[in-house]
Amino acid sequence: AFCSPAVLAQAAYPNKPITLVVPFSAGGPTDLVARTLGAAMSRTLNQPVLIENKTGAGGTIAANYTAKSKPDGYTFLIHHNGMATAPALYRKLSYNPLTDFDYVSQVIDVPMTLIGRKDLPAKDFNELRAYLKANGDKVTLAHAGLGAVSHLCGMLFRQATGANLTTVPYQGTGPAMNALLGGQVDLLCDQTTSTTQYIKAGSVKLYGVTTTARIKSMPDAPTLSEQGLKGSEIVVWHGIYAPKGTPKEAIDKFGAALRSALVDPAVAKRLDELGAVVVTESKQTPVGLQTWLAQETTRYAPVIKAAGQFAD
Ligand code: MLT
Repeated sequence: AFCSPAVLAQAAYPNKPITLVVPFSAGGPTDLVARTLGAAMSRTLNQPVLIENKTGAGGTIAANYTAKSKPDGYTFLIHHNGMATAPALYRKLSYNPLTDFDYVSQVIDVPMTLIGRKDLPAKDFNELRAYLKANGDKVTLAHAGLGAVSHLCGMLFRQATGANLTTVPYQGTGPAMNALLGGQVDLLCDQTTSTTQYIKAGSVKLYGVTTTARIKSMPDAPTLSEQGLKGSEIVVWHGIYAPKGTPKEAIDKFGAALRSALVDPAVAKRLDELGAVVVTESKQTPVGLQTWLAQETTRYAPVIKAAGQFAD
């Protein structure tokens, strides 16, 4: 039958590849999550979900790019806690995380781990506390830049312990981990996505997990909170965003594809290996993400203000 261009243009969504913007480097924790989900979502949507790594400035470049993209249902963003820290960290932010987006869904939570270089004298968290007290600002803590979750975890840890650690910025998660493995820094708090293999291999020391309860992927690993450290609990949560004004049909279909990906057995197995936990169904909604983002923005603002490290 004859199909006029106007009819073709209105072909059901999605009728071309969809871009999922990732604010961090290929091969990193956020990218791993995006690619695992994207592959499964492509099958449901019958269109490729293309991962586009737009790195820099703690994820704010990617978020700004998405906020200013055409709201046609073909651009989405996956971002973590950095969406909530940006307003307090960045003096000049050219988008508002709370108003410039449409919200699709929360996704998964990834625990973090406080780890040390292999030959750090403290063999557990108790000894580490004493070591921090005795060595003050001589102890170094790596992070992957302002806006990275390793930076956020470091700020929470410093405040909870009162330790006068020296923080050392790196260009990303990979370089920060390499510095720890090479013994150039003492400590790093980072996602299980990247730390698990080194913890299991014994190439770093594990001082504790940052979640409120022990995690399934490392049941023998104590939490920091059960070892007496309160106030530094953190999980890396992920949200999917779209430019404001994206058609509801696109938000609904992308969200539905995400929800099927989260229950896909192969995806579930991969997420399990990474230590990631799928969020409850009530969080897998636009309002679930929006509410949580607002809450986390409020939680981190005073932490960042007290730490006094800001970016332009
Ligand atoms: C990444 O994917 O590189 C990380 O999620 C960055 C970070 O530490 O926030």
